[in-house]
Amino acid sequence: MNSKRAIAQLLQHLAGVGVTHVPHVEFPKPVKPATKPAPAEKKAALNPGGTERAMKSGRQSPAKSNLASESRRPSSGLRSVKELQVTSADRPDPSREVQALVEQKFSGPTHKADALCSLAGIVANCRRCDELATTRKQTVFGVGDPNARIMFIGEAPGADEDRQGEPFVGEAGQLLNKIVTACKLKREDIYICNVLRCRPPGNRNPQPQEAANCREFLDAQISIVQPEYIICWGAVAAQNLLNETRAVGKLRRQFFTYNNAKVMCTYHPSYLLRNPSAKKEVWEDMKFFMLELGVELA
Ligand code: URA
Repeated sequence: MNSKRAIAQLLQHLAGVGVTHVPHVEFPKPVKPATKPAPAEKKAALNPGGTERAMKSGRQSPAKSNLASESRRPSSGLRSVKELQVTSADRPDPSREVQALVEQKFSGPTHKADALCSLAGIVANCRRCDELATTRKQTVFGVGDPNARIMFIGEAPGADEDRQGEPFVGEAGQLLNKIVTACKLKREDIYICNVLRCRPPGNRNPQPQEAANCREFLDAQISIVQPEYIICWGAVAAQNLLNETRAVGKLRRQFFTYNNAKVMCTYHPSYLLRNPSAKKEVWEDMKFFMLELGVELA
């Protein structure tokens, strides 16, 4: 007897004895053999040239990934710089809940706000990065207009953001606000989020695997908001989003494309706090950006 017929007979029998509903059973996915990260991979920072955050803290991360065993990439000794970038193979299996959210056709700002709210709920329970989930006070999801034309992407929450649950509320955030005002924009009209939704302890660099773990949420936020423009603040955001190895200095003053958005990269406000002379470059970048929006700044 073929299996379809056997199942049909079984269901008929169950119905005969009064069973009309059977529970939905999730079949576990086949387990792939765990692979340990190669030594070169362990060393890899998001910015192979050294991030602004590393310069700030003067520390390099121990680069220990709790999800290394989930990586489906074989460990095969030394890898080239290009290979050290986070690729889709580093990402955990997509969450069905998140996929269902982003596959919707959004009918307007309220629908987008609802989707972001549901996504924030999923993120709040995320434990993909063991260390971050253990040390965070809360997740820092994103803030702003769910229907924004412009999205800002930063690096990761710091201590103030971790405490308040909102991105860019500390010193760097205050400077960002000044830049926004100087551009004749309003913070609340922009959607602001980060590469990571949890604070790395001691403000260390995000590790590549942490960025890979959080990428599904960043991509979901982009898919829901559907911004026309994205500004990547700093090397971590720029290199992660665009899968780039070049320094911000080489990526600024031009537009890239990510999904349907035009992407501009500039220096991180934290970098400007330590290097005020770079403010003029950011101002040039913002003038370039605003001109694209049809606004000429003096
Ligand atoms: N720096 C970031 O990159 N993001 C924040 O939210 C705060 C500081």
